Parts: sequence; structure tokens; C-alpha cells
Amino acid sequence: MRLLCGLLLLLCLVVWAAEARKGGKGRRMRGRDRSSTVKRFAADCKESTVNGEKFFDCQDRHLTAVLLGWPEDIHHLLLARNRIKVLRDNTFSQFRNLRSLDLQQNEISRIEEGTFNGLSRLTTLLLQHNRLHVASEGMLIPMPQLKYLRLHDNPWRCDCELDSLVRFIQVPSNRNVGNYARCAEPREFSGRQLKKLDAELLCSPQTDELILHPDNQPLPAPQKKSDATSLCHTYVHPVPRLDCRKRDLKTVPADIPLDIVRLDLSRNSIKQLRPKEFVSVKDLKLLNLSGNSLESIDTAAFTGLLYLGELDLSNNSLRYFQYGVLEDLYFLRKLSLKDNPWICDYNIHYLIYWLKHHPGVSYTGLVCSEPEEFRGWPVENYVKTYNAECPKDKQLSQLSGTNPADNAPQEFTAEIDEEELGPIPYRAPKKFEIIRLT
Ligand SMILES: *[C@@H]1O[C@H](CO)[C@@H](O)[C@H](O)[C@H]1NC(C)=O
Ligand SMILES: *[C@@H]1O[C@H](CO)[C@@H](O)[C@H](O)[C@H]1NC(C)=O
Repeated sequence: MRLLCGLLLLLCLVVWAAEARKGGKGRRMRGRDRSSTVKRFAADCKESTVNGEKFFDCQDRHLTAVLLGWPEDIHHLLLARNRIKVLRDNTFSQFRNLRSLDLQQNEISRIEEGTFNGLSRLTTLLLQHNRLHVASEGMLIPMPQLKYLRLHDNPWRCDCELDSLVRFIQVPSNRNVGNYARCAEPREFSGRQLKKLDAELLCSPQTDELILHPDNQPLPAPQKKSDATSLCHTYVHPVPRLDCRKRDLKTVPADIPLDIVRLDLSRNSIKQLRPKEFVSVKDLKLLNLSGNSLESIDTAAFTGLLYLGELDLSNNSLRYFQYGVLEDLYFLRKLSLKDNPWICDYNIHYLIYWLKHHPGVSYTGLVCSEPEEFRGWPVENYVKTYNAECPKDKQLSQLSGTNPADNAPQEFTAEIDEEELGPIPYRAPKKFEIIRLT
């Protein structure tokens, strides 16, 4: 009797499991997910479509492996920040349309040679920030379209086993393959870039003798990395983003990848912005400099940031903006200025005039901290008070207010006497100068 009961129960379980598997998809379509564009899968991954490309986002899910049942027609598979340790043969072979595969920040220490079988359309493979000592060119053969391969921040062991990969990385046409990856071992190569290593040395039996060769002097200590890509984390989804938060940076890092759209430099110790810091990052839309120690911004610091839409300068030590700092930011929409010791004197007028002539920009946190009599005042109110005392100046601002289309920077500068707004430390308003204008 007991045995029969047990058997029945088992049968029920099997039938139920089969039903669940069969009905899963259909039910999902009929159920609550029908109207939403984001579908949820095991491990709570999310499928979404952007410009006709399907993304499958399984980042930060504590995954140790690729699970069964994920949609096979996806173009981008995001597996960053999981706990994958080993990649086995044919792990991705069902994803035949895959263009990019993000495996960064896992714990991968081994990749079997057939792992990427079937990925004939893959162009981007991200393996940075893992635990790889060794890999061979063989694993890349199934991916003839591969253009971007990131391998940095892995403890590469530069010996004979790495020879084929190093030679592949060094092929001149593979410009975006393996950049910034460096040897961790053996000691004599520690810190060397795979891209620049003399591949002849890797499989040489007498390395001891050869390292005395002048071009291959052993390095005194591992090289200090200082470029943006090795210091910060890069992401490709949903837009290219560089996360340099809390990296103890004293300056804006060099070599920011050119395609970055969002750049987070918050919570560092950057004191000043030099001319043309971001000039090559032309697509930048968001720049976060919150929580630094910014005291001065060069007039040309934001040169070239034509598409910047949002700028966060909160929590710094800014007292005023030099005349001209904002002139390149044609498409700025949001400007965060809070938690800065803004000084309400004549130097702050540039900022207020610029904001007035760019009514599309919404800004927050512009409050006087000095002098004492204006502390806590919104800076606009201080400027209004100032203008109220200077009738001609008021007239000028009303005049420009009648022409809302007139907000291009050149026209604006033409209206106002440059000499008056120049970055002169402090100058008490003098009425006779304003009369001189008419
Ligand atoms: C900028 O970074 C700070 C701190 O990391 C964060 O609180 C803030 O929300 C960020 N600003 C934007 C606009 O993303
Ligand atoms: C301001 O920046 C400092 C230094 O980065 C940080 O410790 C602090 O939490 C920030 N304050 C706010 C309100 O974000």
C-alpha cells in the first residue's frame, strides 16, 4: 500500500513537471506579461528589445552557469557580475544570433576550447575582471567576426601556453583585441602588456638568458596602471558607460574610450578640470563629477561636449564659474549644483546670465553660502536684488527677455559688455559703467 502511494505521488510529480514545462511559455503569453515588453525568466533575467536588437539581461544574479530555457534568438547576452567559474564546451552554441557577450566581473578561471562554438556572429566578447591565467587562440576560432575582446584585469601567466593568444592579440588588424591585458606571472614579465610582449620569449626554454636582452629588461616592479579602462569598469548595456566611482582619482583619467555615453567620476578627489579634458569623448551625454573637491574649472574644460545633456557638479568646492565655462554645452538640460560654497558676488553673474539665456536647462542647488548677508539665498534672488539697485542693468535683462529665440551663446555675449563679466575676483558694482553702455 505504502509503495503504491509513493509511486502515485511520483507519477503526479512527473506529470506536473512536464505540464509546467510545456505550458510555461503559453501561460506567460496569456498571463500578466502579455502587455509588458519585459519578460522575466528563471533567475529573474530580463528580456528587452532596443532598436530591434534583443537584449537578455542576467547581470548581478549570483549565477554560476548559463541556465536552460533562455530565449535563443537574442543578440546581446549580459552576464556581468555573476559567479561563473568555468566555461564549458558549447555553453553558448544555441545563441546563434549573438552579437555581444558580457562575462566581465565573474570568477572565470577556465575556458574550455569549444566554449564559444556556434557564435559565428559575435563581435564583442567581454572577459575583463576575471581570474584567467591561461587561454588559447583556439577558443576564438568559432568567432570570425570578433572585433572587440576585453581581457584586462586577469592574472595572465605569460608562458608557452599563452603563446598563441598573445600572437593573435598582436596581429596589427586586431586593434581592439586584448588591449591593456597584462602578465601577472612569471615575475620577469609581471606588468607587461600582452600587446607589446616579445612573443618569441614565451616558448623559449632559456628565458633566464634571454631576459638579459636589452629590449626585454625585467621590470623593477609591476607597472602602475593609470588609464581609464584598467582603473574603471566599462559597460556596454544599455549605452556605453564608464564607471570610475570611488577610484581615488586626483585627475580625470587618460584614455577614456571614445564611445562612452555616460561617465561617472563621482566620489574621487579631482580638484580641477583642465582644458579639453573630455574633448575626445564626443558622444558623452551624462557626466557625473559629484563628490570631488573641484575648485576650478578651466574655461575650455567642457570643449567638444556638444551632446552633454546632464552635468552633476554637486558636492564640490565651487565658488563661481569662470566666464565662458558653459559656452560649449549647447544641449545641456540638467545641471546639479547643490552643496557647493557659491559666493554671491559679481563673479556669479555669469552663471545666472547663462542660465537665463538657456531656459531649457533645469538646475538645482544654486544657493549663496557667502557673504554672510546673502547666506541661504537662491543666487537668482541675490542677482535680482543687485539688478533692482541698477535700473539700467534691469532694463538690459528685460530687453533680452523679450526675444526668447535669442539664446545662442554668441548673441548673448554680444549683448553684454565682456569687460563687465570678466573673471575678476571681486568688483563692487559701479553704476557709471552701466550708464556707459547706452
Ligand atoms: C552622481 O553620483 C552621485 C554619487 O555617486 C549620485 O548620488 C548621483 O545620483 C549621481 N548623479 C547622477 C545625475 O547620476
Ligand atoms: C560628498 O562627497 C564626499 C566625498 O566624496 C562623500 O563622502 C559624501 O558622502 C558626499 N555627500 C553627499 C551628500 O553625497
